[in-house]
Amino acid sequence: MSAARLPVFVDVDTGVDDAMALAYLFGSPDAEVIGIASTAGNVDVHQVCENNLGLLQLCGRSGVPVSKGAEAPLSAPLRTAEDTHGPQGLGYARLPAPTAELTAYDAAQAWVRAARAHPGELIAVATGPLTNLALAVRAEPALPRLVRRLVIMGGAFDYRGNTTPVAEWNVSVDPEAAAEVFAAFSDADELPIVLGLNLTENIMLTPELLGALADTAGSPSRPLSEHDDRGAASAAANPLIRVLEDAMRFYFEFHHDCGEGYLAHLHDPLAVAVALDPELVRCRPAPVDVELTGTLTRGMTIADWSGRWGRKPNALIGVDVDPTAFFDRFIARVGAFARQLPYS
Ligand code: RIB
Ligand code: CA
Repeated sequence: MSAARLPVFVDVDTGVDDAMALAYLFGSPDAEVIGIASTAGNVDVHQVCENNLGLLQLCGRSGVPVSKGAEAPLSAPLRTAEDTHGPQGLGYARLPAPTAELTAYDAAQAWVRAARAHPGELIAVATGPLTNLALAVRAEPALPRLVRRLVIMGGAFDYRGNTTPVAEWNVSVDPEAAAEVFAAFSDADELPIVLGLNLTENIMLTPELLGALADTAGSPSRPLSEHDDRGAASAAANPLIRVLEDAMRFYFEFHHDCGEGYLAHLHDPLAVAVALDPELVRCRPAPVDVELTGTLTRGMTIADWSGRWGRKPNALIGVDVDPTAFFDRFIARVGAFARQLPYS
């Protein structure tokens, strides 16, 4: 591993924005992706594995080990989000059939192996439900002290949910896992950075920004529009831009149909960008916990800003970000990475 690269382990429920996050990591000269954990969430875990292996194949990164996680959350039945991310989790996009195999060990063991292989150095990011991270901490209680930095995309702080009126998807799918992870990382040398919807919904990808990405990749294509036929295929010459546009079109259509506009929030790409450079966001420390038994509020994340609970902070909650600074970096890195790919 080159001295300038950070060892990065990422736990994803790939998903449209998870795929964008992986592309950002592949386009980041300061990152070496040393492992990917596949977690059930946006789609079932087998489909997440297929998406991860297929994306690695497309990006020429088939050497990165991909591990399969648990089939279901710790105690709740699995819920998936094909309405948001498409039947296979990547909108209208189709990926090449992967040739690489999954690791023989599961995702929880992959977490433990990565942390032990890079003690005090590992940059870890979770952009899906925290099921496998919770299982990893059960297997290796020292994991929070082995990891140099953990960034979690999850929760919503003083902000409405996107799955229930108060709960965000990743936490809502497995609230017990989120509660276990927040408790376990309270003793970490560096508290986890937690990016909730209150922050990530500032990162709005528009057809114009997606067009700028295609231009940067040297693969200009007509900007997507809400007036296009639904499911219209991308005409981009670049294979990665084609996949990202076809994936994003489904995501744009979903948000448009929800009345949020023809756009998409890049929750997970922000999380990986912050993992490589925490200066991208402003955070505030607070004790954080998860509602597990509320009839109406299960999966809600609560930040005790005023210290009512008498507990020490166990999270650095993202509270401010400059979307332009993020998109400048995102477009530069993903665009340059796409440009150097061999055309299919
Ligand atoms: O709530 C947004 C999060 O849920 C993102 O990580 C998205 O990919 C889904 O997993
Ligand atoms: Ca995700």
